[in-house]
Amino acid sequence: MNEYRQLKVDLGTRSYTIYIGSNLLTQANLLPQYIKSKQVLVVTNTTIAPLYLQQLENNLSAYELESIVLPDGEQYKTLSYLETIFTRLLEVKFNRNATLIALGGGVVGDMGGFAAACYQRGINFIQIPTTLLAQVDSSVGGKTGVNHALGKNMMGAFYQPQAVIADISFLDTLDERQLSAGIAEVIKYGLIRDYEFFEWLEENIEQLLQKEEQALTFAIERSCINKAAVVAEDEHESGIRAILNLGHTFGHAIETGIGYGEYLHGEAVAIGICLAADLSRRLGYLNNEEVGRIIALFKRVNLPILSPKNLTTAQYIELMSVDKKNIDGAIRVIALEEIGKATLPMGVEMSILEQTLNGYQGV
Ligand code: NAD
Ligand code: GLY
Repeated sequence: MNEYRQLKVDLGTRSYTIYIGSNLLTQANLLPQYIKSKQVLVVTNTTIAPLYLQQLENNLSAYELESIVLPDGEQYKTLSYLETIFTRLLEVKFNRNATLIALGGGVVGDMGGFAAACYQRGINFIQIPTTLLAQVDSSVGGKTGVNHALGKNMMGAFYQPQAVIADISFLDTLDERQLSAGIAEVIKYGLIRDYEFFEWLEENIEQLLQKEEQALTFAIERSCINKAAVVAEDEHESGIRAILNLGHTFGHAIETGIGYGEYLHGEAVAIGICLAADLSRRLGYLNNEEVGRIIALFKRVNLPILSPKNLTTAQYIELMSVDKKNIDGAIRVIALEEIGKATLPMGVEMSILEQTLNGYQGV
């Protein structure tokens, strides 16, 4: 029997467990305990299906298992592809006690979760995240949704899974670029609320890049501990949960403005966090040394740290004005008071925001 770690996301009647370990789908009873009836739909994509769908089917041979294999990419995280999931559920006549399993990265997880939230007003949902980014962030906390051409994740629902099964063996097949994109969100947790973890990352980043099992397990667990604590305090993001969006106001503008799929989500977030760090310096919070440490860590992970050249300040501001954190159309961002402590969303003077967008050059 393999060892695995368990963490609880404490949300009263919506509480659930995150399992972290290797080869978790070979554990006969771990997944089935969360399935409520014979009807199970697996949502996955064309890259993940040939790698891992069979393993899941072996684990669930006692069930009436159906699958839908979506095209792979952020550009397919749309309402129209969401509808293909509903069509499939209806074609196979699945009922309200059916279970939907999202097997994939954040795109599959967000779409599968939104489909589970909507189908017959809500069916059983399980997350099996297969990217580092999904294991440390998107599979936990219940945010689900799809993109719109005018804005990222603009339609969605808060819908918690019954369980998250984060199997680090899946990361064996993840390429370097995707691994680095996931590390961007890992670094985020150190920056927003866990200075000790940020220091650990400075010490151990090479081990993570080498996918050393112990380092990966520690980083996933520590990230999930941070995320679960924030989500437990503010499930529906009326306050503190917004700190999980450090850098995302800029990052989402990059993803939408340049075109979904050009920059990976984690890459856009890395640039966004660098911009947020620069803004925090201009607001008098961070000093040059702290900003330098943040940028240096992203560089060591081979993440981009500079804004795309073809995104103008005016375009950034236009795109940032549809961010979900805004109130009455006023742009609000998360800044860093220090490494390990984020601010709540705050309005900033347009002139300071423009100084960052025009002036930040990577130092
Ligand atoms: P992704 O889902 O596009 O996956 C990245 C790529 O890796 C894809 O090509 C995928 O097919 C491939 N892949 C997945 N698992 C693999 C494996 N084990 N081996 C080889 N290839 C594999 O991207 P992502 O980075 O996982 O997630 C990004 C998405 O998550 C964005 O849409 C973002 O908005 C969303 N997100 C949501 C939340 C949330 O709280 N719900 C948080 C962060 C990000
Ligand atoms: N990824 C941001 C959140 O879950 O709130």
